[in-house]
Amino acid sequence: MKMAEKKIKAIGVLTSGGDAPGMNAAVRAVVRHGLTKGMKVFGIKRGYSGLIDEEIIEMKAGNVSGILSLGGTVLGTARCKEMRTPEGIARAVEVCNKYGIEGLVVIGGDGSYRGAEKLANEGINVVGVPGTIDLDIACTEYTIGFDTAVNTAMEAIDKVRDTSSSHERCSIIEVMGRNAGYIALWCGIANGAEDVLLPEKYDYDEQKLIDNIIDNRRRGKTHHIIVNAEGVGHSASMARRIEAATGMETRATILGYMQRGGSPTCKDRVYASTMGCLAVDLLAEGKTKRVVSYANGKFRDYDINEALAMTKEIDPYQIEICSSLSHNYYKTEEAALDVDEEL
Ligand code: F6P
Repeated sequence: MKMAEKKIKAIGVLTSGGDAPGMNAAVRAVVRHGLTKGMKVFGIKRGYSGLIDEEIIEMKAGNVSGILSLGGTVLGTARCKEMRTPEGIARAVEVCNKYGIEGLVVIGGDGSYRGAEKLANEGINVVGVPGTIDLDIACTEYTIGFDTAVNTAMEAIDKVRDTSSSHERCSIIEVMGRNAGYIALWCGIANGAEDVLLPEKYDYDEQKLIDNIIDNRRRGKTHHIIVNAEGVGHSASMARRIEAATGMETRATILGYMQRGGSPTCKDRVYASTMGCLAVDLLAEGKTKRVVSYANGKFRDYDINEALAMTKEIDPYQIEICSSLSHNYYKTEEAALDVDEEL
């Protein structure tokens, strides 16, 4: 430990923004690893709102028993507008000081890190842990909850595909992702969708979509699956127009919040646990303004501002293969010859 570093005696943990399966594993890790390191650990309810309203409980190892396999977050979560104001920040700092909370683990997305950064400027040591099903945090290739959510969506789309095929229908399946198409793209590949609509690559051409459906139908394909990201939206009206133009019965299914719930996958439990422990280690080392990340095969951490300034692009190669593995494959003459086996 360097001379300037002070030993942190008490830390707090909160979950903020949209909940994500695996957040409980991260909370459990922060509590148990913190206790192991001799710290007092406080659980803060309902994100920053609970901090401002002093909804704080001292956590013992038993408080986090049996939560590893649970979806959601036992601490509750919220999107807190007050943390965007100087008064909100001042109040949060006041409460931290009252409870002796010198370090704070914030499990959430970019918006949550902005609040954390402001607390750090007021002397509270903070470490962010990436928690969102959207996978849209630039500094990391893994975010808590994505693996569970994308598997939930994949399984649901498989089921819709069964009935779609039996009834020879077109199905538009809307998955979560207001600004990010990772769930849509991964499902596009994993479910073998004929079309995928992503908010990042909004070159939506309904006539092209309609032509593809008619082409595939003519070749004897019994269903047409379109995975649509929430950020593109309008699935129900799209379905009506497609049905009118193609004559193929078309249904819209919006998977919605079911993607945010459910028991976390093994990957989400293990990665979330690892990240929770790493956040505690960073605080124990006297670090602040850090965000935990998983990149290039390693768990690591970044400066919050550096992390917030990063951008990431949805993989163009994955977009390309998603397309080449679906209907576009049948566009080539040779491929059309063995189409019967592939359908
Ligand atoms: O958690 C991420 C996310 O699910 C986005 O995909 C979605 O746009 C948003 O949260 C919706 O959250 P809420 O309706 O809870 O504000």
